[in-house]
Amino acid sequence: MTAKLLEKREIPTGIDGFRLWPELLDVAAQRAMLAEIASMAEKAPFYRPVMPRTGRPFSITMTNCGDLGWVSDKEGYRYQPAHPETGTPWPAMPAAVRRVWDALAPEAPSPQCCLVNWYLTEKARMGLHQDRDEADFTAPVVSISLGDPARFRIGGTTRKGKTHSVMLNSGDVMVLSGESRLAFHGIDHVRFGATGLLAEIGFPGGGRINLTMRRVS
Ligand code: SIN
Ligand code: MN
Repeated sequence: MTAKLLEKREIPTGIDGFRLWPELLDVAAQRAMLAEIASMAEKAPFYRPVMPRTGRPFSITMTNCGDLGWVSDKEGYRYQPAHPETGTPWPAMPAAVRRVWDALAPEAPSPQCCLVNWYLTEKARMGLHQDRDEADFTAPVVSISLGDPARFRIGGTTRKGKTHSVMLNSGDVMVLSGESRLAFHGIDHVRFGATGLLAEIGFPGGGRINLTMRRVS
């Protein structure tokens, strides 16, 4: 990803530290990345985490790649080096995914986790939350959207403040850095079935995939 391409694609969001590159990945790159994620998920299958304390299941399924994976269960949220159901270490982060981090966060230390969220039904969503299970918030969060479009909501660093909505389409990449690193954010809705992309490439049932790279320690 050349500096020129990055410059050409980035659009202003008006929100400090929240950066957005619509369709930074073209369709060929999206397909190649999905194929890598699908084969990675053969080693680390998608599973449905549950909420801390209540044990309520998430509406999405998850897996991870990289040195550490983000997990949630009755005990809480945490990072761990192995899959909670198989006990096997997470597979390596695909090089193409890692290259997106290198292009957009060249000054940051390497990402240790790539959380893979699969929104597989009409009802799949993610409530407003902060990404704050990491020991250090100086590195940004880099997030890639693939498949069906979704309405992303981002607010400030308190749960109550004003929020903004942004549609995320397949191939869009965003960065939460600076002031926005600890911004509350979530997915209100996925336009389930709007693209056939996932179903074509190893994700029966289709939907939306989100890849979130993070530095943990
Ligand atoms: C997340 O915040 O972990 C996911 C956001 C998204 O699906 O775009
Ligand atoms: Mn998040």
